[in-house]
Amino acid sequence: MEFNVKSGQLEKQRTGCLVIPVYESKHLSAQAHKINEATQGYIAQLQRRGDLTGKQGHWLLINHIDGIAAERILLLGCGKEGEIKEYQFRELMLKMMLALNETAAQDALLCITEIPVKERDHCWKIRQAIQAYHFATYRFDEFKSKAEPQRRHLQRILFHMGNRKEVTYGERAAQEGQAIVQGMEIAKNLANIPANICTPSFLADKAKKFAKQHPKLNCAILDEKQMQALNMGLLLSVTAGSQSDAKLITMEYRGAHKETKPIVLVGKGITFDTGGNSIKVPPHMIGMKYDMCGAATVFGVLSAALELALPLNIIGVIPSCENMPGPDATRPEDIVTSMSGQTVEILNTDAEGRLILADALTYCERFHPDIVIDIATLTGACSLALGPYPSGLMSNTQELADALYNAGMQSGDTVWQLPLWDEYHEALKSEFADFSNVPISSIGAGTIVAGCFLAKFTQKYQWAHLDVANTATYSSGPKRGATGRPVPLLVQYLINRCQA
Ligand code: BES
Ligand code: MN
Ligand code: ZN
Repeated sequence: MEFNVKSGQLEKQRTGCLVIPVYESKHLSAQAHKINEATQGYIAQLQRRGDLTGKQGHWLLINHIDGIAAERILLLGCGKEGEIKEYQFRELMLKMMLALNETAAQDALLCITEIPVKERDHCWKIRQAIQAYHFATYRFDEFKSKAEPQRRHLQRILFHMGNRKEVTYGERAAQEGQAIVQGMEIAKNLANIPANICTPSFLADKAKKFAKQHPKLNCAILDEKQMQALNMGLLLSVTAGSQSDAKLITMEYRGAHKETKPIVLVGKGITFDTGGNSIKVPPHMIGMKYDMCGAATVFGVLSAALELALPLNIIGVIPSCENMPGPDATRPEDIVTSMSGQTVEILNTDAEGRLILADALTYCERFHPDIVIDIATLTGACSLALGPYPSGLMSNTQELADALYNAGMQSGDTVWQLPLWDEYHEALKSEFADFSNVPISSIGAGTIVAGCFLAKFTQKYQWAHLDVANTATYSSGPKRGATGRPVPLLVQYLINRCQA
């Protein structure tokens, strides 16, 4: 799908389908008014007859009307005149895209930037519309022996801009939107692949292929022997029960000067989480192929950075292994030395994400990072705390937390900060090691305690932690699978960084 912008007189636009907003009131939007004039009052007639209600999300498709060049017009009901809420705009865009997909139009011109949404500009609306198209049409049928045939006529979507001056920044918004949905698609496709195929080696191969395609991207893979040499005891303790080889994947994107300190993104890449010897009950194991959504996010964000040629240096680091039980697997109460030298008493082998991340975060020191952000499906408790809306955010630098919060509000891919106070750190005290990976007796606040564990390995740089256990997959409702979050959040953060 191709997205772009266009300006010019509506009635003269040659397009497969023109989308025009209409309201419940008889008053016509500026665009509807133009079409009404060009068609000798046809729109007003439809309103009088009662065929055109203008109710939010309702629409009417009309074909081949005298007086206008477009083959079809989709009259899109926007409800009562006046501002609509952001989520209502998103729903509206989704309904519009589903309707457009049902037509035989090969291209469409959408007049949606004038729909009033509180404090949202044209760029935001264009990007949300592009994301709605992605949401409406995404399928993952790689593993169906016979893919269901799909009706897909649309090739190109254009957004109509009121005047020529707006075209330049509208174009940029379309580019950004396209880069974001491409990144989301990469993340979703990777995450949806089952764990019998998506192994740590599979992810490493993807990274190598990805780097081969892009001259600005380099990739290096560490195997278990090399991890041993680096004393990554925690990562190795998690992979101990698995037949698959662990990998530490590094992808480097150079978009800025050599000397510019990099932004490092660390993604949890557990390709399957059984819980290990602290084994999960079967219902809790469903969905654990998605325990590499953090890793998938890193791929998606790097793809968007490449697509937009962001003038930044970005390094993706992915510790990847399986968490399996078995004779060689780590036992509860084992004590292991981390790459940082700190010793950890592993009281629960199901709290494995923080272990592999800890060594990966120590490894990041060698990049002399400007900032480090880790992304992880880390705790089920994050769903209890926040439901499916914002991802959990924790940070040792308030400025960074604020920047991520703002990027969340801008992109609609939101985050909510949780505290990392000393009181919570107390819960990880161990009788026998420097600390344990979970409290010996729970204090609740599982998401925060996990964040505190990571904080013990990130003292040398500015760091933020995103717990996406509640947002990276659909948790309820008819949809199953990866959401592509938090790709929009991180791409927005990076775009903002370029403007600062
Ligand atoms: N991968 C899970 C977290 C998770 C749970 C993600 C549900 C998505 C949905 C993580 O490794 C885990 O098992 N966490 C434990 C931590 C506990 C042992 C302290 C959890 O959340 O139960
Ligand atoms: Mn686990
Ligand atoms: Zn896990």
